[in-house]
Amino acid sequence: MNQNEQKQHAAQVALARIQDHMTVGLGTGSTAAYFIKALSKRVHEEDWQLTTVATSKESAELARSLGLRVQDIDDVAAIDVTVDGADEVDPNLDGIKGGGAALLFEKVVALRSKKNIWLVDESKLSPRLGSFLLPIEVIEFGAQQVYRTLVHMNLHPRFRMKNEEERRYTDSGHQIIDVDLSQQNDLPALARQLKAITGVVEHGLFLGICDEVIIGSQPIKTLTRP
Ligand code: 5RP
Repeated sequence: MNQNEQKQHAAQVALARIQDHMTVGLGTGSTAAYFIKALSKRVHEEDWQLTTVATSKESAELARSLGLRVQDIDDVAAIDVTVDGADEVDPNLDGIKGGGAALLFEKVVALRSKKNIWLVDESKLSPRLGSFLLPIEVIEFGAQQVYRTLVHMNLHPRFRMKNEEERRYTDSGHQIIDVDLSQQNDLPALARQLKAITGVVEHGLFLGICDEVIIGSQPIKTLTRP
């Protein structure tokens, strides 16, 4: 199975975790899009009364275009389960997210969800996080100063670009700086250090957040938190 087939397969399997009347968090990215499409089909076939909360404008638009009810996170009492993709996952179910620049809303939704499920293909699995660059979301004002701090922290930062001249902006109007984790041995400490930098809004280290990883291989594999 190629990567896309695995993503689609994982999305189908994740449907078994969803029930009528749930409030479901929708992730962002190509894998999350497969899940949103599969979910909308199930909702229409079964005539489910389901509410969703989206982690990006892109996912909200897709879900609405497929007839799903999308509500603002502040208008729901609780989120039963969030289904998202990931950029890299280790055996402890810790991961890096934000390859699609949606890490801030993804983390807000994930931390308010009773359960978090990540759908991945086998290429996302890694014995140790750091093959994927870690996205850090920063406010525009003083972004260059934050960049310098990240240089001093030996994180080899680079601004995420939309094209050769323009920086990439997130749904919240922030910028993304991607950093290299390959020399970092203590990721929980790094996560705390990054959060303490004024100007940093959020980072893409999702530690202790995911409850289940569905790997869309054939046969399907799942990892659950020990
Ligand atoms: C977006 C994300 C995505 O979940 C991550 O980038 C995986 O994307 P894809 O499913 O397209 O491989 O974190 O911010």
